[in-house]
Amino acid sequence: MVDPLRWWRRRGLRARLVLTSAAVLALALVALAWLFGYTVRRSTIGTLDASARRSAGDVVTLINANRLPDPILTTGGASTIQVLDRTGRILAASPGGDRLVPLLDGRDLASARRDGRARFLDGRAYGLPEPLRVVALPAQNGQTVIAAASYEQVRDNLETVVRTLVIGTPILLVLLGAAGWLVIGGALRPITELRRGAEEITGTARSRRLPVPEAHDEVHDLAATLNDMLGRLEQAETRQRALVSDTAHELRSPLASIRTQLEVALDHPDRQHWPETATGVLADTLRLARLADDLLVLARLDERDTRPAVREPVDLDALIRTAGERHPAPRVPVDVRGRAPVTVRGDAAGLTRMLDNLIDNATRHAATGVRVRLARAGSWAEVSVIDDGPGIPEADRERVFARFTRLDEGRSRDEGGAGLGLAIVRETARAHGGDAFLTDAAPGLRATVRLPLH
Ligand SMILES: Nc1ncnc2c1ncn2[C@@H]1O[C@H](COP(=O)(O)OP(=O)(O)O)[C@@H](O)[C@H]1O
Ligand SMILES: [Mg+2]
Repeated sequence: MVDPLRWWRRRGLRARLVLTSAAVLALALVALAWLFGYTVRRSTIGTLDASARRSAGDVVTLINANRLPDPILTTGGASTIQVLDRTGRILAASPGGDRLVPLLDGRDLASARRDGRARFLDGRAYGLPEPLRVVALPAQNGQTVIAAASYEQVRDNLETVVRTLVIGTPILLVLLGAAGWLVIGGALRPITELRRGAEEITGTARSRRLPVPEAHDEVHDLAATLNDMLGRLEQAETRQRALVSDTAHELRSPLASIRTQLEVALDHPDRQHWPETATGVLADTLRLARLADDLLVLARLDERDTRPAVREPVDLDALIRTAGERHPAPRVPVDVRGRAPVTVRGDAAGLTRMLDNLIDNATRHAATGVRVRLARAGSWAEVSVIDDGPGIPEADRERVFARFTRLDEGRSRDEGGAGLGLAIVRETARAHGGDAFLTDAAPGLRATVRLPLH
């Protein structure tokens, strides 16, 4: 036993649309056909009755003028005319008309005379065609004129009309249904193509876009939106892949270094100065640890999607002083001079790490000294770390903020990091609603972080 509701739900969109519209169309067509047939029938019978009544009226006029001929020549549409006297006897008739038996008698005659309406009559009993439309009109002296018109021709015409409708309506319905099937199929084709495009993307995992239909309709917008999304996903995936490969690359050199040191040491255990080996291995381990820490910080910043986890008031002034103290024996002197207390809202640990990265870069590159400055600029707090080193060429000042970007590739192994420092600086600043940028300090570099004031 098939559940019709379930069956219906399982049909495709196209089938459902076509079936629904065909059903509505069928109802409308049947109603129209019926209305049409009914109207045609009524109006043709009306015309026939009017012509019979006109014929009868002509005869009544003749009777009232006392000029009744016999036989009566039929005029108008009536085929047979009889004139009866008060008692129902036939006084005159049209040629071929019955002279003994009236077409209407008794009660039929009385009511026909009274209401003047035409009625059906089987003419076969009188040797006339079947059926007839008969009217009876009163004339002077209680006489009655009966006029009959043949319905046969009209009936044949009506039958033709009905036959045409009965055959034509289903054909029309099928044609309209087929047209609907084609049109709806055409309208749904872009969706099919979208699906096929998506299938290809899934199947080949290559950079692809969905086909965008030419018509500027909902499907077009959908395809464009989905393509935007695909583009962003692709970018994210590319970034992710680059990150993984860069990370692997960065991991390789300290690991290779540790391995070499240990292999050499184990090959000649007696001649080995073990504390030296341990120091070398420790340095590489610290490098690895720092890389892991930096990657974790960046991953957290990515996760939080531009919002710092903690939003506590942070005194930048105090933060800068402790940051200066945290570099106990810097390569060059670090001059930290905070002025008025400047407070921002955010994550103290994150802001400290940001500052450490800047001071670390500056002390590494400075020739004679580093200055850390704190200032207010409108509704912003500005922290600047200034060195007098070689600086960074204008063209590279944006690029160095990207992850794993190092300009001094050839530097010795234990200097600096993996090129994640400035990326952490900028992303931390942005997470706090601010930004970071580099300018020329002539000589040297000025790294500035701008944060919204608390
Ligand atoms: N104060 C500076 N003076 C000159 N170059 C700098 C300075 N700070 C950073 N750089 C350059 O920018 C690059 C990226 O810095 P960073 O992201 O901190 O990475 P890392 O310190 O690990 O090399 C550095 O490799 C260096 O070439
Ligand atoms: Mg750095």
